[in-house]
Amino acid sequence: MALWSGRFEDSPSEFAQAFGASLETDLNMIHEDLAGSAAHARMLGEQGIISPEDAQAILEGLEAIHHSMHDGTFEVDPAVDEDIHMAIERILTERIGEAGARLHTGRSRNDQVALDTRMMAANLADEIWRALWTLEGVLISLAKDYDDVVMPGYTHLQHAQPVLFSHHMLAYFWMFARDFDRITEAYNQATLNPLGAAALAGTSYPIDRSKVAEDLGLPGVIPNSLDAVSDRDFLLDLEYACAVAMMHLSRLCEEIILWSTQEFNFISLPDTWSTGSSIMPQKKNPDFAELVRGKTGRVVGDLVGLLVLMKGLPLAYNKDMQECKEGALDAATTLSDCLLVMAGMLADITVNAEVMEAAAAQGFTAATDVADYLAKRGMPFREAHEVVGKLVLDCEKRGIGLEDLTLEDLKAASDLFDDDILGTLDVRSVVEARTSFGGTSSASVAQQLEFAEERLAQMRSLVE
Ligand code: ARG
Repeated sequence: MALWSGRFEDSPSEFAQAFGASLETDLNMIHEDLAGSAAHARMLGEQGIISPEDAQAILEGLEAIHHSMHDGTFEVDPAVDEDIHMAIERILTERIGEAGARLHTGRSRNDQVALDTRMMAANLADEIWRALWTLEGVLISLAKDYDDVVMPGYTHLQHAQPVLFSHHMLAYFWMFARDFDRITEAYNQATLNPLGAAALAGTSYPIDRSKVAEDLGLPGVIPNSLDAVSDRDFLLDLEYACAVAMMHLSRLCEEIILWSTQEFNFISLPDTWSTGSSIMPQKKNPDFAELVRGKTGRVVGDLVGLLVLMKGLPLAYNKDMQECKEGALDAATTLSDCLLVMAGMLADITVNAEVMEAAAAQGFTAATDVADYLAKRGMPFREAHEVVGKLVLDCEKRGIGLEDLTLEDLKAASDLFDDDILGTLDVRSVVEARTSFGGTSSASVAQQLEFAEERLAQMRSLVE
């Protein structure tokens, strides 16, 4: 019999009961439910709303349920337990009697599920922090291990200007650092106490909501009871942060997949993070990177699903909201797993430095530098652009690179050219010339690396 069966003369069919249940998903927040109930019971006892003996019995009962989960004697019953809140209250009351039936005083499942979901979101954020931190560490190691490797930098996937491989890796570092901040914001939004809102309007019992918040380590209390039970924005924040992080992973995966093709051959994937083909014996496929790229769609779907779920809901609680948890769990666990997969894979890639450097020299990637040379000698940049464009065209026709031009060739294009241009057009000189803050010269990248390491240390303080 359901805990709300009093006003009913008949019960839902087994099928309807199963359809309305959230028990399976709720198994992910048992600990949160037990902790929330314990804080509520302690407060009820301290406020004299229930007797100290009843409060004590409830606390011991909840503790025993916690232990019974580990020894396998905790048994939910899908035939009667609609959700984890009802299951725990039923088991508690069966075990300790009347005191258990007093636990729900001044509380509703509406504020209870809001609290549990918030604490679950905070735990998911914590897991993501760890995984992000792990990946960030790998990106920094790659930037350090390959600090003198030059690769082509691209725009429109066409060779643009040479960059350091470290610089490229650190670009991802900063993307994931922003993800870390977004997860932190979601965590901050989640860790507020909705309990005490009861069904929607608050309660006539002399409860102390701050006490419950303090007990649970939550820094604040939601000031409006209607908002407390009807808000799922903290899940939107979490899922948005997950979707953006997955989008970042997906971009990285796309590069990994391209770089490991025969055409690029910039990197080789470790055997441990590659798969073969059932028919083509020679194949070594980047399945894991493809799968992470693919899972991005799912996580974006989770975010959109929640936005659509919430968009038409009147205040306050609506059963629709029961659907909010699965997407959040899926988004967060998918992201955590994907971050760890990428960390594992990237830690063991082989960087084919010579191939990258040779590619960086292709495609006239020093052209901007030649134009800058002329501009620094007084030619308006737009004019210099035109002169160098013509030089490139000429080189292309002759099948040579800009660095192969003689001083005579150059002087024929502009008498501003002098012999100091020679020897500055190789990819390394071009890279080293970019000394601006955040640029790709080894000095700038070394400075950037210092900032990144500071940032990693800050992240560490949150994951510990
Ligand atoms: N299982 C429900 C959920 O996940 C708990 C809240 C139920 N409240 C209600 N009034 N039916 O949303």
